[in-house]
Amino acid sequence: MCGIVGYIGDRDLLPILLVGLERLSYRGYDSAGIAAISDGEMSYWKRAGKIRELEDTVKTLSITHAMGIGHTRWATHGESSEINAHPHVSQGKKIALVHNGIIENYLSLKKQLTKEGHIFRSQTDSEVIVHLIERYLHDDLEEAVEKAVQDLTGTWAIAVVAECDPDKIVVARKGSPLIIGLGKDENYISSDINAIITHTKEVVYMDDDEIAIIEKQNVTIRKIGGEVITKKVNHISWDAIMQEKGGYDHFMLKEIYEQPAVIRNIISKYINSDNTIEFKHINLEKQDLARVSRFIIQACGTSWHAGLIGKYLMEKYTRTLTEVDFSSEFRYRQMITDGAGGEVVVAISQSGETADTLACIREAKCKFYNILSFVNVKGSTIDRESNAVIYTHSGPEIGVASTKNYLAQLMCVYLFTIYLGQLKWTLSQEQVDLMLQNLKRVPEYVEQILAQADKIKAIAEKYSSSREFIFIGRGLNYPSALEGALKLKEISYIHATGYPAGELKHGPIALIDSDLPVVCIAPQSATYDKMLGNIQEVRARKGKTIIIATEGDESIAQYADDIIYIPLAPEDLTPILVAVPLQLLAYYIAIKLDCDVDQPRNLAKSVTVE
Ligand code: AGP
Repeated sequence: MCGIVGYIGDRDLLPILLVGLERLSYRGYDSAGIAAISDGEMSYWKRAGKIRELEDTVKTLSITHAMGIGHTRWATHGESSEINAHPHVSQGKKIALVHNGIIENYLSLKKQLTKEGHIFRSQTDSEVIVHLIERYLHDDLEEAVEKAVQDLTGTWAIAVVAECDPDKIVVARKGSPLIIGLGKDENYISSDINAIITHTKEVVYMDDDEIAIIEKQNVTIRKIGGEVITKKVNHISWDAIMQEKGGYDHFMLKEIYEQPAVIRNIISKYINSDNTIEFKHINLEKQDLARVSRFIIQACGTSWHAGLIGKYLMEKYTRTLTEVDFSSEFRYRQMITDGAGGEVVVAISQSGETADTLACIREAKCKFYNILSFVNVKGSTIDRESNAVIYTHSGPEIGVASTKNYLAQLMCVYLFTIYLGQLKWTLSQEQVDLMLQNLKRVPEYVEQILAQADKIKAIAEKYSSSREFIFIGRGLNYPSALEGALKLKEISYIHATGYPAGELKHGPIALIDSDLPVVCIAPQSATYDKMLGNIQEVRARKGKTIIIATEGDESIAQYADDIIYIPLAPEDLTPILVAVPLQLLAYYIAIKLDCDVDQPRNLAKSVTVE
């Protein structure tokens, strides 16, 4: 997604903006730019490609007493090019704007503005906004921005600077995140906390239909068309150091190795010393939760895979009907409710800003569903708009490919299942004690698997020239197969598909030949024998088998071209364990292919547009 950063104060502007843009780069981008106002005069620079292109352009400049805005662009309308990069400037080049979001009515606005004599330079939707502001600007930038956004349909987080108002940045938000960072005689704006955490930990989260005037010593926030409002100042608890790679080659590898610590942290957060489970932000009464007749889980990508596993667990242990849907599909389906208020829509989202997932909870709230969200980023829009939240506490996840937060999601879904099973009396105390005892062993299981990294790296390199992969699993590990395929394809660009193993003979088996590696997820489970049969089907057609099996299962090795063992654990926990070799397999294949692991092409960490 696009990233926005801005600064107003007395410090050197360019380093603050450039470092901020670098810290936003994990969101995914293809071009970058900066606008600055210094001594009442506006300048701007923008480059296609990496931020260092922009750095090379501005590093010789000395800009004093300046304030300004910066942008990393993830192309939605218009190719990746210098002319389509932000900032976009007005006809008279006295106003500059950066935008994250999509303007749905930009064509009609562009047509009208062109009729009025405005000349457009880019193919983007965003450019219409700065021309609208120019149309309305007389001498008050805030007023012009407020009028302009009232003409827009779509989503936006915008930051605007103008020569006529050189001591303020005007920002507005609808549908895309925007944060204000508060300093001493200086203030910041950003799309997310990563860009400004080294300068301030005191932040204000803007909400939809708000406009803010950011000055050196003052921040004023209003509802569009409304009065000044007072917003809560939030203190960010984690440190910038958590953002650094910590000696690892990539954030993704660092985050894979953080998983044992993340899991231990979740256990300590949610399991009390007396073995009771406590969720502090689950603002739903226990008796209401106990009466829930149906859960509808909606999410995207890896989070959707976590939702699929949630379905298996919640139906098995709480006997509650649980549906799972892609957010982008759910939001357009007829949401059928029993009208009794006994249903809960569940959102699972690491970023808490995924547009489709956010749209679903807004739609569901209009239909009086309660919303329970599993979210990692505190203060995110989904966090703030849900009735109840379970934080996944995985810390800032910088790698675009989700790893530690996926395991955190699975841990939290598992804990919620146990919690709900107790409320619904579908789990006895003995069962709960045993499940929690097993869950507490997961960190050491993950450490044992991480200790096999070199072996997994060798397997990855052996197959790195394969043109495609198939992943198969059954039951709880069918979603694991989907997750393994997604991890591989999103960072190595190799086509990979996950299937329920039982589906092989219904079509996919036609793909199998001696060039096709099939990753077979076959830990000890109720469907192990069936899985073994599927592996035989692959072998009979000369497919290469990379098997993930349970330690001690020697017999299965005869069917493997390569095998990775995971510790013996209850079937319900195997999705957490098998995720680790799948992550490492994808990582090492992508490294072998010299791919940009942390910022894969075309991808964004948080998809804040539909
Ligand atoms: C997963 O590796 C991907 N980065 C992507 O599928 C991601 O899970 C999806 O976009 C959902 O993001 P969210 O969890 O922040 O909502």
